[in-house]
Amino acid sequence: MQNIVALIAMAALIAFLVWSGVRALRARNPLVKWGGVVLAATLAVALSGVSALTAAGIVKQHSRSAPVPDLEVEVTPERIARGRAVADGFCAGCHSKSGVLSGGGDVGKDLPLPIGSFVPANLTPAGALKHWSDGEIFRAIRNGIDARGRWLAIMSFTNAGRLSDDDTRAVIAYIRGLSPSGEQTPDPPDRFSLLGLVMLGAGMLPDAKPVFTGVVIAPPKEPTARYGRYLLSYQDCRECHGKDLSGGVPGQLPPLGPDLAIVKDWSQAQFVATMRTGVDPNGHRLTEQMPWQPIGRMDDDELAAIYQYLVNLPRF
Ligand code: HEC
Ligand code: HEC
Repeated sequence: MQNIVALIAMAALIAFLVWSGVRALRARNPLVKWGGVVLAATLAVALSGVSALTAAGIVKQHSRSAPVPDLEVEVTPERIARGRAVADGFCAGCHSKSGVLSGGGDVGKDLPLPIGSFVPANLTPAGALKHWSDGEIFRAIRNGIDARGRWLAIMSFTNAGRLSDDDTRAVIAYIRGLSPSGEQTPDPPDRFSLLGLVMLGAGMLPDAKPVFTGVVIAPPKEPTARYGRYLLSYQDCRECHGKDLSGGVPGQLPPLGPDLAIVKDWSQAQFVATMRTGVDPNGHRLTEQMPWQPIGRMDDDELAAIYQYLVNLPRF
């Protein structure tokens, strides 16, 4: 809303600049005349550019859409257990700043530019989800759109949408069983700043993952490279460690993770210990920028699967 107001203010300012330019044309003193016209015209053109980009950003912000799948999740003990594992090993990295999945913090504060505020939502019944259908939660995880059809920016940049249909249902079953805790988080959770909208309009922010409405099936859960590949399809390792895991590159969303070829020199036990303790075999303590705590909560089979996948990458 405040961005629409800013847009109207910019339009008014442009009109004022044009008016000032026309007034300057009537001045007798040539310096005032041409100086005024050039200044007013330059400012008006620059401001028009900014307004056009802001408008493009607002359009982009409202143009994501995907159907709500028609489903009702049957809650079973197995599903809840699997859902808890996925939430602990992945969603918790962002959504458990104030307590188990009770949201809080602001992802926007970790970004190098003030593009807005993006608060991980409280997913317990103390938040908005208790009014959502299972299908609406499914769509939020799969395609980054909230129950009212609004774009969930950070969710759409993550790979949460690659979770299999079964794992997504499991997470929903687990969320449904949580007891209310923590504060209500802002609704909507995203507040783009003017700079954020301009950058969005100019295509300077990463693209949201494309909308996907098909079925995602996971391979059997075993300590194999194949299962590791599935885990890395939804875990965001590549968002930080680079497309081929050879290290992040400037221009991506921060932080930049190092080349993961280093893991080739570690045993599987050393890899698992690094993820569980946050200290690598060289005694190096990992910063909090590396989400080793949620990753380290994955079970032995899953961490072994990730290790197998990494050391068997052709590049390594
Ligand atoms: C990289 C951080 C991150 C990860 C990982 C993440 N989320 Fe989110 N999530 C957010 C942020 C930030 C928001 C606020 C909206 C936005 O910017 O996407 C959000 C919003 C949501 C919403 C919308 C809630 C509302 O009230 O509007 C749901 C549902 C959700 N997340 C579920 C999940 C689940 C389930 C997982 C794990 C499968 C997950 N998220 C993983 C950061 C994350
Ligand atoms: C939010 C960004 C981010 C994500 C997501 C992420 N990492 Fe990292 N990772 C980092 C950063 C930054 C470091 C460097 C930390 C340090 O050296 O203090 C790091 C360090 C590491 C290291 C240690 C390297 C060394 O030299 O000791 C390993 C191994 C690793 N990450 C594996 C993974 C795997 C596997 C995943 C996905 C399951 C993953 N990371 C997801 C940012 C990330």
